[in-house]
Amino acid sequence: MTRTLRDLPAGLAGKRGLVRVDYNVPLDAGQVADATRIEASLPTLRWLLRRDVRPVLLSHLGRPGGQPDPALSLAPVASALAGLLEAEVLFSAPCDGEEALRASRELGTAQVLLAENTRFLPGETANDDALAGRLARLGDFFVNDAFGTLHRAHASTTGVPALLSPSAAGLLIERELEALGALDRPGRPFIVAFGGAKIGDKIELMRRFVERADLILVGGAMANTFLRALGIETGTSLVEEEALDLARSILVAGGERIRLPTDVTVLDRSGGESVESVAVGAIEPEMAALDIGPESRARYAEALDGCAAFFWNGPMGLFEDPRFAAGTFAVAEAAAEATAAGGFTVIGGGDSAAAVRQAGLRDRVSHVCTGGGAALEYLSSGRLPGLDVLAERRRS
Ligand code: 3PG
Repeated sequence: MTRTLRDLPAGLAGKRGLVRVDYNVPLDAGQVADATRIEASLPTLRWLLRRDVRPVLLSHLGRPGGQPDPALSLAPVASALAGLLEAEVLFSAPCDGEEALRASRELGTAQVLLAENTRFLPGETANDDALAGRLARLGDFFVNDAFGTLHRAHASTTGVPALLSPSAAGLLIERELEALGALDRPGRPFIVAFGGAKIGDKIELMRRFVERADLILVGGAMANTFLRALGIETGTSLVEEEALDLARSILVAGGERIRLPTDVTVLDRSGGESVESVAVGAIEPEMAALDIGPESRARYAEALDGCAAFFWNGPMGLFEDPRFAAGTFAVAEAAAEATAAGGFTVIGGGDSAAAVRQAGLRDRVSHVCTGGGAALEYLSSGRLPGLDVLAERRRS
């Protein structure tokens, strides 16, 4: 069992709580474009502030590759957090120097310190011990509330808790694990839907669902890879060539339980640009499949009718473009209907979560995860590096 905030000893007042949050949020013109992950961190921060703890926050933003990139500074996040938390949020760059240490020691009541992007330093993703040591100096105890980053073994997620005691999970992680735990022994039928473009990351994890789910609905660019694995022409659609063998083995293992689109909505570039829906056998070399087609939408919605449990990761198409949004919104709507009929539905993944919000269905599904990769990893293996280290600390 992971220790949570509620298990921490009394007497935290005046101490610096070093909190790993996941503020890997979309930015637009230097402003936070979607504050969902910031909002999700507020219960833990308020819990700490109410106990007169001085929170010092660590987070990554994007993948700057171990060097500073002004476009990926957390400074705009500090302003957004100050507005949402209604507290004074100080900002420190870089995250590991003397200035950050001094700022953490000078923090006053009701003040929060957000340190600059941890991935501006090469030691972060390399889980460098020396960096973990410098970060650990910023707190008197550690709280990991970065659910979306629990599948990464980095200096700020696994290095710091190995050094700081006590270390505990925050309230967001507690909430996420409770929802995902309900899918451990799901009601039947248990249906999962996979889509999105991060095929390489996900297809291996998808294989592990073959034994557990009653039905796997495949859409988005993921579906193109499966269609190509079957020898079907996919034109200029996004396909992960290296994953074709894996896709074939999933098709063999899953058999009838794997559902692929029977039609797709394509962008046809043969004479100018046109959008149409075609049967999967009729995709031509100049066409790119960017959404599931109307027949597939109806089949997938029908499959969800009456499901007891549903987990969805990755949109069914390029839903940011309204011409290719129908498949994703149809699955979101079907998930909301399944929830109303008593099913337990979990949406895991930034894009599918954004689609559910855009469709105005956020409150009509059971749970929306703040981390797709972490949710997938947890559901498929039951383990996450960021959690394992907290459990080890509890035992030691
Ligand atoms: C996410 O957005 O999935 C998490 O913040 C992890 O980010 P990463 O995939 O860049 O490690």
